[in-house]
Amino acid sequence: MKDMARTVRDYIRTIPDFPEPGIMFRDVTTLFSDPRGFRIAIDQLLHPYAGMEIDKVVGLEARGFILGGAVAHQLSTGFVPIRKKGKLPGQTIEQPYQLEYGEAVMELHDDALEPGETVLLVDDLLATGGTAEAGIKLIERLGAQCIGCAFVIDLPDLGGRAKLEALGQQVHALCA
Ligand code: PRP
Ligand code: ADE
Repeated sequence: MKDMARTVRDYIRTIPDFPEPGIMFRDVTTLFSDPRGFRIAIDQLLHPYAGMEIDKVVGLEARGFILGGAVAHQLSTGFVPIRKKGKLPGQTIEQPYQLEYGEAVMELHDDALEPGETVLLVDDLLATGGTAEAGIKLIERLGAQCIGCAFVIDLPDLGGRAKLEALGQQVHALCA
């Protein structure tokens, strides 16, 4: 395929049975490592938000850090990480959540956002929506407002988009 005709989806590979049998793992490392793929993904992720008042981009561990950092740079905002429990050094608030394959706890520094700040949430993939929902709850618990949730991949059969839209969130995804 000629490089200019490739879409974001074309740069992502699917690895069966990772991290456990039955999971079709969408591997975005092949998107990130391609200069054109990474550029078009970042351009398309931030496109709906150009010109909007956004104070911070929040990225979800781990691949949301790579995407969110680049989006924050392009939007000239600060970047804030939401991390798996035990990784952030300062005082945190925590939020448990369910995954497609397990359970975990996310944390946010309790001084990372100011009340009233507007936030764009960024991650690589939306599956059940449990991770993003935990992120939105953490953002809102600090009094900030999540004005959008941007993902490279949405797996709509797993219900994440419906879950986030039921919370009143705007979901932007580049491919399924
Ligand atoms: C993946 C992905 C999202 C989350 C989506 O991360 O990067 O953060 O799953 O799933 P959900 O919509 O069902 O919550 P993972 O939990 O594999 O963690 P990692 O990025 O640290 O590998
Ligand atoms: N997180 C949850 N489900 C996933 C999948 N199928 N591929 C990559 N990350 C995921």
